[in-house]
Amino acid sequence: MTPWLTVVGIGEDGYAGLGKAARRALLDAELIVGAPRQLALLPPCLRAARQPWPSPFSLVPVLERQGRPLCVLASGDPMLFGVGASLARAVAPEQMQVFPAPSSASLAAARMGWPLQHVELVSLVARPLAALNRHLYPDARLLVLSNDGGSPAAVAELLRQRGFGPSRITVLEHLGGERERRIDGLADDWALMQVEALNLLAIECMADNDAPRLPLTAGLPDSVFSHDGQLTKRDVRAITLARLAPLPGELVWDVGAGCGSIGIEWMRAHPRCRAIAVEADESRQRLIARNRDALGVPGLQLVAGAAPAALEGLERPDAIFIGGGVTVQGVLERCWQALKPGGRLVANAVTLQGEAVLVDWRARHGGELTRIGLAQAQPLGGFDTWRSALPITLLDVRKG
Ligand SMILES: C[S@@+](CC[C@H](N)C(=O)[O-])C[C@H]1O[C@@H](n2cnc3c(N)ncnc32)[C@H](O)[C@@H]1O
Repeated sequence: MTPWLTVVGIGEDGYAGLGKAARRALLDAELIVGAPRQLALLPPCLRAARQPWPSPFSLVPVLERQGRPLCVLASGDPMLFGVGASLARAVAPEQMQVFPAPSSASLAAARMGWPLQHVELVSLVARPLAALNRHLYPDARLLVLSNDGGSPAAVAELLRQRGFGPSRITVLEHLGGERERRIDGLADDWALMQVEALNLLAIECMADNDAPRLPLTAGLPDSVFSHDGQLTKRDVRAITLARLAPLPGELVWDVGAGCGSIGIEWMRAHPRCRAIAVEADESRQRLIARNRDALGVPGLQLVAGAAPAALEGLERPDAIFIGGGVTVQGVLERCWQALKPGGRLVANAVTLQGEAVLVDWRARHGGELTRIGLAQAQPLGGFDTWRSALPITLLDVRKG
């Protein structure tokens, strides 16, 4: 099948910077859709009609032409946080051809002398700033796609708040074009409130001595979560997440989420991991919202309500965690029903009644029961002794 859709990546150097095949596609096109800024880069000699994207942005004008030839302009590499990536979700690969130009990330890496494979790429385009928090660690090199001209100042402020004030920031405006400009500074000293709207940030992260150290493996310190005591504690959380076993792209339900720690750590495992936290208590919902931002996973979905009713209509998950509430009528049954085939259900109980429900469940559905008994050395007079935490019963069961 000949592709009806051609996506041409164009840089700030415009038509002159395009390869032969991309130019041919534009010369032959009858209709070119793109952002006004990109359409303005085209020479007048092209015969195609030019159509700006609708506002608010929508792919509909392209998708409703399905089958009839059409060219779309995108900036840089269309498949990198670009319109090509969005179109690829709706158009089969054999119906679409893409001509990439160098991405802004490639150009930035070239300017900075940074190997691209060692940087972390973060997009803030139409995304919450808090997403950056997941990527902050000493010596990290970040390339951050800005949302607008205010993004560098907002990022500098976030870095200062998070204990990364000594970080070096480079703003790169209009990469690859005549208006290319570079601005260097420290987050601590950053005073420039607005730069050109088309900009990207290259950040070399440096931490204050007291900046929180947030590893990417499960089991963050309890102190990094705002909580009211309803927190799956660090060691039990690490075991629980190992059992939940997140893979990129998978969805977990964190039922009775408390302060959200399980869903948050699940999402920190990989940028494509997704979580829905279900919580009935309003003050805990606020804690979840605060924690998901502070720990860099603002995309965690919060469902305000009590299970099982609040679970109705939610996307089916790959894994479910029930941290409390196994004794609530219908919760386990509804979760089990919703879980995808092959999915994992992990439930923790601290009371005898909760444990009885898990034992009964195992008798009917199989799975593994594990008892977690932890003790910490604490002072006793002039000596130390073991203080035991309440033992936890963990059920880990896979749906056949
Ligand atoms: C929706 S993303 C698209 C990225 C694009 N697909 C690419 O390959 O660079 C748009 C963001 O990329 C960054 N960007 C794209 N072109 C740029 C350029 N020439 N100079 C600086 N930043 C650029 C800006 O941060 C902008 O907000």
